[in-house]
Amino acid sequence: MLTKEHIEESLKEIIYPGVGKDIVTLGIIKSIDISGDSVSVELDLRSTDSKLVNSVENAVKEKLSNLEGVNSLSVRKSAGGSQAGATSTYLPQVKYKVAVASGKGGVGKSTVSVNLAVALAKQGLKVGLLDSDIYGPSIPLMFGISGRPEFDGNKLIPIEKYGVKLMSLGFLLTDDSPVIWRGPLVMRALQQLMSDVEWGDLDIMIFDMPPGTGDAQLTISQSVALDGAIIVSTPQDVALLDAVKGVQMFQKVNVPILGIIENMSYFICQHCQERTDIFSSDGVRKECDRLKVDLLGEIPLDVEIRISGDEGIPVVEKVPDNNQSKAFIEIAKKVKENI
Ligand SMILES: Nc1ncnc2c1ncn2[C@@H]1O[C@H](COP(=O)(O)OP(=O)(O)OP(=O)(O)O)[C@@H](O)[C@H]1O
Ligand SMILES: [Mg+2]
Repeated sequence: MLTKEHIEESLKEIIYPGVGKDIVTLGIIKSIDISGDSVSVELDLRSTDSKLVNSVENAVKEKLSNLEGVNSLSVRKSAGGSQAGATSTYLPQVKYKVAVASGKGGVGKSTVSVNLAVALAKQGLKVGLLDSDIYGPSIPLMFGISGRPEFDGNKLIPIEKYGVKLMSLGFLLTDDSPVIWRGPLVMRALQQLMSDVEWGDLDIMIFDMPPGTGDAQLTISQSVALDGAIIVSTPQDVALLDAVKGVQMFQKVNVPILGIIENMSYFICQHCQERTDIFSSDGVRKECDRLKVDLLGEIPLDVEIRISGDEGIPVVEKVPDNNQSKAFIEIAKKVKENI
């Protein structure tokens, strides 16, 4: 007997070109209907690249028509269209949605997200910050929040601090709850952080992404009509290669890249104020030129940034006048221009 699982199993063998993940995991299969030996599949393909869309569609047709028990097959594409034109059912009251991502872990995505959010709030915008790193949420720590959000009816009220509305799975998990997420669970958890939270009207929402270019990133890019993505990289070559992967992932799903931020870019000695380029300098700038994306800013490697992160007071809040904070504030101004 033909079952949905059976069909999914077979569709999982189709890898989305350029992304390296299968189309089931990526949430491209919108529905599967089986009636006797007739199968009808709906695909949610948002790329504007018609070649790519056709190749996925053809691969699905070929795979399923060769499946035992399938006599009649219909493959439909839902009206996805381009990412930019996609109307997301999530967060309709948010004017501008931007992801802060990186190919590699530990490069400073959360640090950038937090300081950017606070800097934008200081510039008068209504800002939300959604901790999408459901594997290792760090927003509660970086904002120094240990409480839990309250409910209003069946909606969660975001916690507000330093002028930013916040939500993180970290507020809801206990320290020892296991965070073992599989594809569909990742999707559900993220959907809930978007739809079951009383965000209200916002000018901008920042998504602090988990590291890498995996399911969660693609889930967000697919289900939220992101208006832009910011890639964080450190100057080392390895991080840079991963940053390039990140840029390519967003370009594949038609999310505009606002630019790359070089974090831990250089070091200023606190005693003699001399600048040291600890890693090779200029690598990120050159890569930006090559990829034709903006270099949004350079953030120094700075002990105050690290300490304020651990203390739960973002550096732009704690010492708004120092050069490190100014670097974040300048980036926030550039982001604001896009809204
Ligand atoms: N410019 C900086 N100067 C000094 N320390 C920094 C800087 N940027 C980030 N850090 C520190 O590096 C560590 C990792 O940063 P952060 O958590 O922001 O990275 P991440 O990319 O979000 O990591 P993950 O991939 O685990 O989510 C933190 O302890 C943070 O305080
Ligand atoms: Mg992080």
